[in-house]
Amino acid sequence: MRDSSYQTEALIAQDIDAYLLQHQHKSLLRFITCGSVDDGKSTLIGRLLYDSKMIFEDQLAALEADSKRVGTQGQNIDFALLVDGLAAEREQGITIDVAYRFFATEKRKFIVADTPGHEQYTRNMVTGASTADLAVILIDARKGVLTQTRRHSYLAHLIGIKNLVLAVNKMDLIAYDQEKYDSIVADYRKFAASIGIENFTPMPISGFMGDNITSHSANMAWYAGPTLMAHLETVELDVSADQLKPFRMPVQWVNRPNLDFRGFSGLIASGVVRPGDAVRVLASGKTSAITRIVTQAGDLPEAVAGQSVTLCFADEIDCSRGDVITEADAPVQVADQFEATVVWMGEEALLPGRPYWLKLGTQTVTATLQAPKYQVNVNTLEHMAAKTLELNAIGVVTLATDRPIAFEPYAQNHALGGFIVIDKITNATIAAGMLHFALRRAQNVHWQALDITREMHATLKNQKAAVLWFTGLSGAGKSTIANLVEKKLARMNRHTFLLDGDNIRHGLNKDLGFTDADRVENIRRVGEVAKLMADAGLIVITAFISPFRAERSMVREMMAPGEFFEVHIDTPLIEAETRDVKGLYKKARAGNLKNFTGIDSPYEPPAAPEIHIDTTRMSAEQAAAQIVEALLGEGI
Ligand code: ADX
Repeated sequence: MRDSSYQTEALIAQDIDAYLLQHQHKSLLRFITCGSVDDGKSTLIGRLLYDSKMIFEDQLAALEADSKRVGTQGQNIDFALLVDGLAAEREQGITIDVAYRFFATEKRKFIVADTPGHEQYTRNMVTGASTADLAVILIDARKGVLTQTRRHSYLAHLIGIKNLVLAVNKMDLIAYDQEKYDSIVADYRKFAASIGIENFTPMPISGFMGDNITSHSANMAWYAGPTLMAHLETVELDVSADQLKPFRMPVQWVNRPNLDFRGFSGLIASGVVRPGDAVRVLASGKTSAITRIVTQAGDLPEAVAGQSVTLCFADEIDCSRGDVITEADAPVQVADQFEATVVWMGEEALLPGRPYWLKLGTQTVTATLQAPKYQVNVNTLEHMAAKTLELNAIGVVTLATDRPIAFEPYAQNHALGGFIVIDKITNATIAAGMLHFALRRAQNVHWQALDITREMHATLKNQKAAVLWFTGLSGAGKSTIANLVEKKLARMNRHTFLLDGDNIRHGLNKDLGFTDADRVENIRRVGEVAKLMADAGLIVITAFISPFRAERSMVREMMAPGEFFEVHIDTPLIEAETRDVKGLYKKARAGNLKNFTGIDSPYEPPAAPEIHIDTTRMSAEQAAAQIVEALLGEGI
């Protein structure tokens, strides 16, 4: 069964064009099913695909082949096989976050995002929900409203899905009991109202038995509402809402095949555009007018939200990937500090202050998130104090980007207010979020230009500023060697300053401990101080364990090119532990000192430091001499 073609996402992706073409006149409903592990999601989706009788021919062919292989025939077998196939695919497809399945009826075509239900897969639910018009919240009638039901409803509402179906499934297993059904719906109604969900459509079903899926169930004559399929076929879609909003198109790429043609391609996020329209490009704010709307099928007199087009301008203004083209008189905002709700999806918790990638529309920037203002308890909806966000947590944070980005509040525009956060080292998506507003302080605090520049500061000292960033295990010899380097430089009349871990932790950073989060903040502050000192023209030497690559690369990026020297004081753990100058390794091994670097807290060695010192091969004096020599070689 594994090799049957209906399991191949690629094939489905290929076929979807032909498929959609075939059903072009019908409206499209995108929906998502959510719920917990055993609520019967596979069965329900299988039932919908099966009952729609219009699943892919490949899928049918594969099913037939399978049923022949096992030597059976008949509808029920096909249905069971289909469900089996979906479940098996899901199990083996850990890498498939969301599987999109396509089917159609006489009235409408559908794309359903099928997402694994396990709690750890909140991220998949978010991914699937981000493009959905409707969410089917599945409940196991035997269990009623669960944490997962609440979390998924909260997320669906947060993400802005307007149509919610509460499908109370497995009614056959509670003997089609109306009273139990009513009490589950009442339960859910209370919860829904508390999070601001005004409307939802409840229905009692059995995916397995087919009750109330395509035809009304004789087992539940008491139910007068629509069947699930009838509801999916007729629920009203707000297709024109995006078109009524002002024009916005994030630029995906610049098309410049030759000198005569320059076009900006992207997917129109909202509004309508016509040749002659005045437009503004954000973040720069430059204006021009549209001359042409180019598509593969020729030029258009008009394009609307949801279409992919290439726009040409009357003027040669700057515009590149990540910019947003907007109506000239209704531009989007530009800012670099925001309040946002984030859903944490990373295995590793949020590290406040760590630089991550933030992707919004077609813009990718570096962003740091602060410790959450609060976390939301999805059961009680209480705001709880939190220092970080763990897997599946939802919280409100403020965040800063390293350059201004064009955006709109998520409530107004999903495409320009929704973002994802990506780990810079693993490239994993670790959060999804929604921007609420730009912080006013971002608009009210401006950079003050100073007359005495950093170059002048350095020239007055007759030197080039530099930052020598020592990194290595505790007891590696960082402080000792840094101290010798500073003495040598002082003898050469260089103006220096040494920032040492143990000393800074007595003052500026005395509020910080040794958790990952505190170490990130320690290095962020030291980086900022080192930068100010480099601005003042000094040769700054820092001696901190600085165990994480992400923060070391963040400070590197803060400094001017050629100014930052990462110096790895490389002492193997066994050596540092044998020396144990401060007796801390002994304490850590005895369990009396938690989070000790190298023991129960990680050290990530530099991959390509400017200077590498192997302390097992040379004395501290020799190491210092080698470092100073390297600096002279670089013209410091
Ligand atoms: S860093 O990881 O945040 O860069 P930093 O260099 O400031 O650490 O401080 C490290 C010094 O703090 C060590 O040299 C050691 O003397 C002391 N220390 C106390 N507890 C710990 C710990 N749990 N892990 C590492 N160093 C510790």
